[in-house]
Amino acid sequence: MYNTFATLVDPGDEVIVPTPFWTTYPEAIRLAGGVPVEVFAGPEQDYLVTVEQLEAAVTDKSKILLFVSPSNPTGSVYSPEQVAEIGKWAASKGLWVVTDEIYEHLTYDGVPFTSIATAAPELGDKVVILNGVAKTYAMTGWRVGWMIGPADVIKAATNLQSHATSNVSNIMQIAALAAVSGPLTAVDEMKVAFDRRRKAIVAGLNAIDGVECPTPKGAFYVYADVRALLGKEFPTAAGTATPSTSAELAALILDEVEVAVVPGEAFGPSGYLRLSYALGDEDLATGVARLQDFLGKAK
Ligand SMILES: Cc1ncc(COP(=O)(O)O)c(C=O)c1O
Repeated sequence: MYNTFATLVDPGDEVIVPTPFWTTYPEAIRLAGGVPVEVFAGPEQDYLVTVEQLEAAVTDKSKILLFVSPSNPTGSVYSPEQVAEIGKWAASKGLWVVTDEIYEHLTYDGVPFTSIATAAPELGDKVVILNGVAKTYAMTGWRVGWMIGPADVIKAATNLQSHATSNVSNIMQIAALAAVSGPLTAVDEMKVAFDRRRKAIVAGLNAIDGVECPTPKGAFYVYADVRALLGKEFPTAAGTATPSTSAELAALILDEVEVAVVPGEAFGPSGYLRLSYALGDEDLATGVARLQDFLGKAK
């Protein structure tokens, strides 16, 4: 991610970032001297931006559209038609597309993953694909990812990398090679478990008054709208508390019932909580029950 933006971005270039976004994108863009331009899509549109919204964000400084499907933090997945439409639009504007495909194998309900590089051939070679072993192979700690793009971009990124960490350690490269050249049977098994947990967490959260949680079609996160709970009073060990932002609500949940959720502020506007369901069924059930009990006391 960092190498990609450092390679493509010149100071002052704008990068359009569909929001809610994964926390690292704006930082990697800013480190390269670029300007992230947020385009927000709320739960009423399944957290998916439209071409009309993107069009409204374009200026003569726009250089890149960032595209992520399935998404962290929302778990949303664009349909093949939406991907093609967005890619075609980006091509018509002369934009580069940087696409993060790290959740490509984690989709549910029969929804397909669509790569913007193939769905929109109009983009030609102005596409950089990012991926890694962290999600598909549950190799989060192994620190292996890759870029696919035009030869000159890859060459420049390789030069940059050679002066930073030189390379990914050989041991990790061999482990990653074993992963990517092996079968996807373990992913299929993981997906069955994730799918079960996805349904459980969505049902559990939507049972809480004031929480609206769309059903995500990919990744392993849910993004719950908790705006209706802000400004309400909660009983606490010390008395009462009235959180007015999702950051305050997340801190309160952590303090009072020891459940870790990430507030919307980490990914864009306040008013939302991201929850990961990449944990065991029993822990998930305990966490959701604690949230139901605590958030259910809002007055
Ligand atoms: C959207 C997205 N891209 C990339 C990554 C990078 O993962 P890693 O640094 O483990 O390869 C993550 C990890 O959370 C992610 O959610």
